[in-house]
Amino acid sequence: MKIIGTGRMHPSKVVTNQMLEQFLDTSDEWIKERTGIAERRLISSEHLEDMAAEAARQAIEDANLTPADIDYIICSNVVNEYITPSLSCIIQGAIGAKCACVDVNAACSGFIYALDMADDRIRSGKAKNVLVLGAEEPTRMVDWSDRSTCVLFGDGAGAVVVTEGEGMLASRLTTVSKTDCLYYKRRLEPTPYITKEEEFGPMYMNGREVFKTAVLSSARDISTLLKQTGLQPSDIKYYVLHQANMRIIEAIASYLKLDMSYFPHNVDRCGNTSSASVALMLDELSRGGKLEKGDKILLSAFGAGFTTGAAIFEWTK
Ligand code: ACO
Repeated sequence: MKIIGTGRMHPSKVVTNQMLEQFLDTSDEWIKERTGIAERRLISSEHLEDMAAEAARQAIEDANLTPADIDYIICSNVVNEYITPSLSCIIQGAIGAKCACVDVNAACSGFIYALDMADDRIRSGKAKNVLVLGAEEPTRMVDWSDRSTCVLFGDGAGAVVVTEGEGMLASRLTTVSKTDCLYYKRRLEPTPYITKEEEFGPMYMNGREVFKTAVLSSARDISTLLKQTGLQPSDIKYYVLHQANMRIIEAIASYLKLDMSYFPHNVDRCGNTSSASVALMLDELSRGGKLEKGDKILLSAFGAGFTTGAAIFEWTK
């Protein structure tokens, strides 16, 4: 498959580190030094499904298609206001498409899992044009009095349209069940019969453990894909990495012995937008005129699970 259209939507509310200093025991200096984040965009009045539908419309228009041309919608999402129906069903109605829809949850790697699923769908001949989204509001999972987590996140929705073609050169997905270092449990409705103890509360994250696992797993995925395709690190124009923390991106750059010009980033302006981050970055690069036909780009993400996803694309647009 190949990517033929991209789109994105950010919430309007910009929250700077200085704004967080007003109610948290934190500082602009600490947040910038440890994460690279200066500001993030947070949902205030918006609904995630509306933002995702707008990103989808942009991607479809960019692909020179109409919603009627879309044969399948896959939306990567961890949480939104609905448990059911899925976000992709709501997006389908909002944009006026008619195809089958499904959501996937592979945490921050979910957009790459969704792309891989789209590739399978296209290869099998069951779909021609697939709309793939990453739409996330991780700021609704964290405790806003916990300085170690809430400063990290932002919200957003990114979309691509993929179709038959020779763009995706390789992909790799991995999952290792390691559920104790990053999780969020929701409270479900009570029943008269529940006797078990149930734990719920805001997202729990062991930041150091996630940091180490992220660097090691992403570096491993990148090396594996480069080897598999016979490419050298410098043959890749851009490494579009999950935007969790600038230090993670810098550690991977140093492992590959590449300078930071290969690593476009938005974490400084958007925070960690979970599985939306790679999709947002792709649209930013494409609309910013940074991608030329024939460029090779490598996507790599990691997230709760622990999941990882990586893919190499040749830009064909
Ligand atoms: N402001 C000021 N001080 C803080 C803050 C804050 N916002 N947060 C934590 N601290 C303090 C801690 O309390 C601790 O103080 P202490 O030494 O008195 O106990 C000190 O800073 C150091 O804390 P560490 O947790 O050791 O700091 P570290 O350098 O590891 O940075 C961070 C923390 C930024 C969370 C880092 O571990 C990290 O980025 N980890 C990866 C997180 C990540 O990417 N998560 C993604 C989650 S979802 C996903 O995308 C997979």
